[in-house]
Amino acid sequence: MKTHVTTTINGGSVEFLCQPRQSLLEVLRDELSLTGCKEGCNNGNCGACTVMLDGLPVNSCLVLAVEAEGAVIETVEGIAEQGHLHPLQQCFLEGAALQCGICTPGFLVAAKALLEKNPQPSEQEIRFGLAGNLCRCTGYDKIVRAVQAAAQTPEAQSPGLSKRPGLLSRTTQTEAKSL
Ligand code: FES
Ligand code: FES
Repeated sequence: MKTHVTTTINGGSVEFLCQPRQSLLEVLRDELSLTGCKEGCNNGNCGACTVMLDGLPVNSCLVLAVEAEGAVIETVEGIAEQGHLHPLQQCFLEGAALQCGICTPGFLVAAKALLEKNPQPSEQEIRFGLAGNLCRCTGYDKIVRAVQAAAQTPEAQSPGLSKRPGLLSRTTQTEAKSL
């Protein structure tokens, strides 16, 4: 039996029906046509599916779609505002911080989450903040430089979304896996 879910995605109210076993990634891509988030590993290792859930970056392949009930979700499609690229997107473009681009949406969402939490991160903090995102093309240095460039722009430091206590963030998922 399908479950009815009401949620907010990229600022708009969204309702959908899903099976209890379906992941948020599956519903975003297959039911809501939000194909920016990518399925890399589907088991929480690559970060290609990263979205913001109540202000925290999560691997949407590890979140059940029913957990989106009442939540606020931001996907890579919501990063640009009113037709203007977010500074992170602009800096990724200008710095050629992508090759095949499969990992890029996840990196953008994770980097935005990092800058919202830490507007002036050190290189080490950027590398740690993006440790849950894998790039098979191994363009890590350009990605880090793009995030450093974006951090210099005031627009990159937009206010964070509301937070829901107790949500298992992607960082927590990563830490839990390494135990
Ligand atoms: S597809 Fe979700 S972490 Fe790889
Ligand atoms: S640009 Fe190809 S996986 Fe990162």
